[in-house]
Amino acid sequence: MCSIIGYYGDEIAAPLIVKGLKRMEYRGYDSVGVATESNSQIQLKKGVGKVAEVNFNIQLDTLPGKVGIGHTRWATHGKVTDVNAHPHSSNSGKLAIVHNGIIDNFEQLKKELERDGYVFKSETDSEVIANLLQKNYESVKNVKNAIIKTVLELKGHYAFVAMFEDGQLAAAKFHEPLIVGVGKNSYFLSSDVLGFIEQTDNAIYIENGNFIIIDKGKLQILDFNGKSIKQEIVQISREFADVYKGDYAHFTLKEISEQPDTIFKAGENTKDAINNAANYIKNSNNIYITGSGTSYNAALIAKQVLAKYAKIKTDAIISSELRFSSDTIEPNSTLIAISQSGESADILNAVNIMKKINCKVISIVNSLTSSLARESDIIIGMNCGPEIGVAATKSFTSQIMTIYKITEELCNGTFEINYKEISESISKILENHDQIRHIAREMKDVSDIYVLGRGIHYPIAIESALKLKELTYIHAEGIPGGELKHGPLALMDSNAFVIIINPNDSTYSDTLMSAREIRARGAKIIGISDEKSDIYDYWIEIPKTSETTYPISETIPIQLLSYYAAIEKDADPDYPRNLAKSVTVM
Ligand code: BG6
Repeated sequence: MCSIIGYYGDEIAAPLIVKGLKRMEYRGYDSVGVATESNSQIQLKKGVGKVAEVNFNIQLDTLPGKVGIGHTRWATHGKVTDVNAHPHSSNSGKLAIVHNGIIDNFEQLKKELERDGYVFKSETDSEVIANLLQKNYESVKNVKNAIIKTVLELKGHYAFVAMFEDGQLAAAKFHEPLIVGVGKNSYFLSSDVLGFIEQTDNAIYIENGNFIIIDKGKLQILDFNGKSIKQEIVQISREFADVYKGDYAHFTLKEISEQPDTIFKAGENTKDAINNAANYIKNSNNIYITGSGTSYNAALIAKQVLAKYAKIKTDAIISSELRFSSDTIEPNSTLIAISQSGESADILNAVNIMKKINCKVISIVNSLTSSLARESDIIIGMNCGPEIGVAATKSFTSQIMTIYKITEELCNGTFEINYKEISESISKILENHDQIRHIAREMKDVSDIYVLGRGIHYPIAIESALKLKELTYIHAEGIPGGELKHGPLALMDSNAFVIIINPNDSTYSDTLMSAREIRARGAKIIGISDEKSDIYDYWIEIPKTSETTYPISETIPIQLLSYYAAIEKDADPDYPRNLAKSVTVM
């Protein structure tokens, strides 16, 4: 996914746009660009790299004019090059666009436009919007009808902002986020409230299939047929403004360190929602849980926790896979949809499929104003605050805590959450930076890491492998302890590094046996446990706690290990290569 932004107001646009792009950089960060209008001329600058670096090299924020657009890219079509970076101007140069999403029919449209004499400079699907808009504008001579004609021809998922040489701004939303920031004498158009939260906390969340025009200081909202739409201005909670690293070197380390507090906030202020969710679950024959990436790993935890403590059978399905098994999903089922951003295209598509067969949707989400929240029957907030680091950390433990809260509601007192113990355990582990950094240094050059866990610790092993992949670029794999001898043991030799997740609960002795078998093949072992063992080459101690605390406390050492291994490898922990915070394209 990319981030798009537009500004129309009485201040110089470029510095505000560059600031907004910096705050949204976690959405995509392989290239950046800005275009502004002044004296009916469009100026444009763009380049490959992060916002700060490109701005330093080519001074994006010095472009003149009080109207502008900007973009940070996560490449889908065409390599990471200056030409493929946005904004894209049309052949006439009289308009420029920035786009987030995918235009499915871009090749066909491109051929038609080339037949009309248009020339394309880039490999992107997005440039088609610029030339198609120019063609339509030249035929209807006004922005409103040009947009209507253009959205009629575009197929796919998109949000784009277009700037015309006369200073008009227009933007359209079709299954990609678009928010208007309403200032005193100004407007922002943005993919995320972070784009303008420093300037205003008044926002309008544009509905799907609508577009806006800003001209002569006036904002219009219209649907794709041109009918005028009235929409509320809502106030955004200022907590979203808190995207500063403070004294931390990286957002990822800051967010890992916030967990002793964020675990208390999970599901806060959503008591009724948790109550309603528990009733839905109790009265539903079929319950499905879905998510992508780390959120899917939280779904696997939910499946085990609901089965073990609430005796409720559920099915966990990867969001992008749900459409391949939707035929077997019973109508009137309940879907628990887990997502930090609430904007991942795969989960929105899964929800769409389930709603078509009359399923109820309970969402566990961090952004309460996200598309997923707006599509849900019940919204339960994770409340862990903005998460900027692309690899999910605090959001994962908040997802587990939210699942615990629902289970507590379902178990009428037979399942209790020990918040104090969980928070203190995390704080204890966070004191152990030096040892964990030392192990990360030892481990950083290996080519493969295997993470082993049984029962509830198997999904934690999968999540751990994901963190290692995302942050260190080392191939890592989560293995169910009992499966070791049915194949993976063949991989174990003196080059292998194995992380054993082994708290002293019902899985302890079997997992220790697996560790012994691995040790016998010469592999290096990191043991994460509250019990010391000489089978481990490295022992990372976690506090001795109740069973329900272990899945959270044992996750922290892996988050830190992945973070420090990334540092040791000079990788950027906040903006790992090729990834984005949430992927809004399927
Ligand atoms: C990926 C992120 O793009 O999306 C992961 O890099 C995340 O960290 C996954 O787990 C799912 O995102 P979300 O917002 O739907 O939980």
